Amino acid sequence: MQIAIDGPASAGKSTVAKIIAQKLGFTYIDTGAMYRACTVIAQENQLDYGDEEAILAAVDQNQIELKVVDGEQKVFTGKNDVTQAIRMPEVSANVSQVSALSGVREKMVSLQRQMAGKMNVVMDGRDIGTTVLPHAEVKIFLVASAKSRAQRRMLDLKQRGIKSSQTLAEIEESIKQRDYKDSHRKISPLKKAPDAVEIDTTKMSIEQVVDAILAEIAKSQKNI
Ligand code: DC
Repeated sequence: MQIAIDGPASAGKSTVAKIIAQKLGFTYIDTGAMYRACTVIAQENQLDYGDEEAILAAVDQNQIELKVVDGEQKVFTGKNDVTQAIRMPEVSANVSQVSALSGVREKMVSLQRQMAGKMNVVMDGRDIGTTVLPHAEVKIFLVASAKSRAQRRMLDLKQRGIKSSQTLAEIEESIKQRDYKDSHRKISPLKKAPDAVEIDTTKMSIEQVVDAILAEIAKSQKNI
């Protein structure tokens, strides 16, 4: 079974996707982490974030893997654990540019489809329902106000132990910029699939969002 969860930055996708995957015994795949890993590879190799050829060559040299280690989701590029590095503000600021490169998208989408072909997945991202898994049984599109997403991002950075000098207003501004870039790029922009269910999480608790998605999953199974 395939469950696609899309939406803008910090709408709560990964938090609820993880919980749902755990409840159903499915594998959680964070596709944003994969584009972030490509960005870290570009950064570490001092590549221009628009240099598709060089980035693709470097990604080929450093296999991107999502692994569960001691019950925790980790992201690796080759042997390097980049789980923390992919959340740094420098990466957040440049990931939209890297993820807009057609070759990078082709490579990541192919990896994502390979994973979803082998196991039951809850996959979150921007183009899962529209492009990666257009036949997913359940498609959810999560939205929330930019202000509440900035508050969540700030809390998330704190909980991950990542020190950032950005103020709440700066975080909100960078989220808005990323939304704009992600929804205006040429290839697979952030967009609700016509058959996705939209949930506005601004005033909802995590439990309420999880329950709403579980209800959609149950509904889809009754329709089979
Ligand atoms: O979900 P996130 O904020 O970690 O994603 C980081 C960036 O990766 C996001 O700004 C756009 C890009 N992305 C994408 O283009 N397609 C996806 N399926 C997931 C993320």
